[in-house]
Amino acid sequence: MLNVKQASKIYEGKIAYRALSDINLNIDAGEFVGIMGPSGSGKTTLLNMIATIDEPTTGEILIAGSNPHQLSKNDLARFRRSELGFVFQDFNLLHTLTVEENIVLPLTLDGKKVSEMKQKANEIAMKLGITDIMKKRTYEISGGQAQRAAIARAMIHSPKLLLADEPTGNLDSKASKDVMEMLESINQKERTTMMLVTHDPLAASYCHRVVFIRDGRFYSEIHRGDNRQVFFQKIIDTLSLLGGNANDLSSIRV
Ligand SMILES: Nc1ncnc2c1ncn2[C@@H]1O[C@H](COP(=O)(O)OP(=O)(O)O)[C@@H](O)[C@H]1O
Ligand SMILES: [Mg+2]
Repeated sequence: MLNVKQASKIYEGKIAYRALSDINLNIDAGEFVGIMGPSGSGKTTLLNMIATIDEPTTGEILIAGSNPHQLSKNDLARFRRSELGFVFQDFNLLHTLTVEENIVLPLTLDGKKVSEMKQKANEIAMKLGITDIMKKRTYEISGGQAQRAAIARAMIHSPKLLLADEPTGNLDSKASKDVMEMLESINQKERTTMMLVTHDPLAASYCHRVVFIRDGRFYSEIHRGDNRQVFFQKIIDTLSLLGGNANDLSSIRV
């Protein structure tokens, strides 16, 4: 589903900075993969390259067999809208709109009929358990509800690949757990391939596999198996071997 081949990223500037070196990452269709590493290790850089927001300096990224970076600007915009879904730390909801209006926003861009949009919004709200907040504005809902609305918006197109950058970064432990359970259930029911960048070992423990990077390079990877608690502990152990700043462990919640 996703093939990252020998990807490197150098940010040009007064002083060129090598943020990623020779990253190889394959994600199968239906897989749920976590990316962890200390602050500044290149996680967001990697995600942005896969999200087609940014390009690798060398190497190649294939999504479902094709290289989106070779598409024209218009085709790339269409590809991004139809194949990819995005979830961010700060939810990125528009505050002047209701939850429902936020969720159907991608369909508005496609010029879909209002009745069709309403029906799709209702379907997804039911699936995600947010029907009772659809008419609310974003300031009337909790962080956890906002993130669920953002996930609904990301899923309304049934993307093949859902990319999430620190989706639990602004949430308390209960809301984080809700959001991760929701992502897990979408992964299982819709078979959506997912890649999650996170500092949070609890969030990462919902993944099938976690890839660790350090200083822009692959460090190691571990697989869940069938016990999430054991996996959670393994993730914490790997993070402590990995080092990085103490801040990175501040988000540990059990
Ligand atoms: N647009 C940019 N220009 C220059 N350097 C950048 C840019 N974006 C990120 N970096 C640098 O690249 C490194 C990796 O950043 P990032 O991918 O955001 O790390 P992470 O998400 O793991 O915290 C950091 O040292 C960061 O300062
Ligand atoms: Mg980051």
